[in-house]
Amino acid sequence: MPSKILSACAALLPIAGLTAIAEPMPKLTHENDTYTLQVDGKPYLVLGAQIHNSSGWPASLDALWPSVRQLHANTIMVPVYWEAVEPEQGKFDFSNVDAAIKGARDSGVRLTLLWFGTWKNGGMDYTPPWVKSDPQTYPRVIDADGHPVDALSPLFDNSANADAKAFSALMQHLKETDSDKHTVIMVQVENEAGTLGSDRDYSPDANKAFAQPVPDVVVNSLHKKAGTWQEVFGPDAPESFASYYTAVYINHVAAAGKAVNPLPMYVNVWPREQSGLLRPGYSSPSGGAVTALLDMWKAVAPSIDVIGADNYDTNFDLYLTIAQRYTRPDNPLFVPETGHTMAHARHMFYIIGTPSALGISMFGINTISAEIPESLAQRNDTGEVAINYRLLGPAMGPILAARDAGHLQTAVEEDGISNRELKFDNYDAVARFGPIRSSYSGEKGTGNMDLSGRALVAQLAPDEFLVLGSNANVVFSPKLGDSQKHVSYLWVEEGSYENGTWHRTRLLNGDETYFGLILPHDGQTLRVKLMKY
Ligand code: DGJ
Repeated sequence: MPSKILSACAALLPIAGLTAIAEPMPKLTHENDTYTLQVDGKPYLVLGAQIHNSSGWPASLDALWPSVRQLHANTIMVPVYWEAVEPEQGKFDFSNVDAAIKGARDSGVRLTLLWFGTWKNGGMDYTPPWVKSDPQTYPRVIDADGHPVDALSPLFDNSANADAKAFSALMQHLKETDSDKHTVIMVQVENEAGTLGSDRDYSPDANKAFAQPVPDVVVNSLHKKAGTWQEVFGPDAPESFASYYTAVYINHVAAAGKAVNPLPMYVNVWPREQSGLLRPGYSSPSGGAVTALLDMWKAVAPSIDVIGADNYDTNFDLYLTIAQRYTRPDNPLFVPETGHTMAHARHMFYIIGTPSALGISMFGINTISAEIPESLAQRNDTGEVAINYRLLGPAMGPILAARDAGHLQTAVEEDGISNRELKFDNYDAVARFGPIRSSYSGEKGTGNMDLSGRALVAQLAPDEFLVLGSNANVVFSPKLGDSQKHVSYLWVEEGSYENGTWHRTRLLNGDETYFGLILPHDGQTLRVKLMKY
């Protein structure tokens, strides 16, 4: 029979003990309109890397840790497979998890665990054999033609309870083995949930539920008029129906885990915003937290702290559209998966510069290790994302402080956009990309061939700035209308942060500053004090 527990009431259970756990347990805070992920009691920015789907085994993990260090990532995303954790019903094996935690500790990085349970990319591939082989107990989605699809239906208690039991066993294991160091800072519940192969479950039980009035929580959260699913949602009814039951199911799993160990939890979404013909259930899983249904997810799944869209788009317009739609007063921006091309390395700067953003993670550290350009490999580096992480990781404290105070500006090069204006309290600035040429409108960047320019500029004090990035040239100016028309550097320091303290390596001057503050391809972190005259 369709779910009793999967009702809105069960979905709205309080998050037991969330505030009772003392630091340094990782937690998500929301104060003064700002979200912060606190790790070890301090604001944290996820500069992540996800391993390949089948690499969460000791044999693969051992080989990956050196690449993790080369990438300068601070957080590694490691899948935990239901099929491996509970190969026989009720018998649990967490040896993979233990190996991941040990490896992460030895490498000095944190972990996000990805629960590959009922859903992985719209399918049930990671459910254990005892689930797959017993469709009577754990029903699959039935498509409109009456054929079973390789995805569990979100409507049935047996499946939700079995998943919740395994997930809470995982959370209990983390509580017992990781409560001292909190190597695991967040947990992703399921992976790109929803169904691929059908827009909803068309089984007789599901059809009965589909003919019922839409639950109040859905109607109210989405400001709709009451009616059946078809009446309320029209052509979007199958996806909305699938999404509601998926949200309730996932909340049930997350709540069970949180009841034993309240780590921050999130879901990742295969976004609906794509080019081409959009058909939920075929072009993307039907049932995920797509943007049109976010209000419903927030109402139905309160045990999920963050909803993050996996964002692989290389076009900055679509990339930013997706990011902006998931950035809301009730949801901080978090990108659980992104690519590792030059475009993605640039996009990272937009994400990190967004107030309240928790961070970003590049998918496929295995791939990037195999693709290390030789010259970078010799310098113990792994490409553009590694340049970003090497610059951003040590500076994360001042960057987050400036960003969330409204004092951080992002400048990213795009095709045809080679100069970006930045505005601060007492100064304006311009980030220029590529060779500088004099023109009628002044000295301008003419663009890098590889579109690699990106910079962050943080105002640390009214006349003091942190400037970091790659392949950019930054120049400050008095603000328009200022009676003082010129800017002089009191000093320009090259250096880096170590444990939050700035260490100057040298003072730059002469050729190194006369033509602007130069951020070479390898990246550079500068602190500069200005005066106007
Ligand atoms: C998105 C999924 O969430 C990942 O697990 C992985 O399959 C990537 N796609 C591959 O591009």
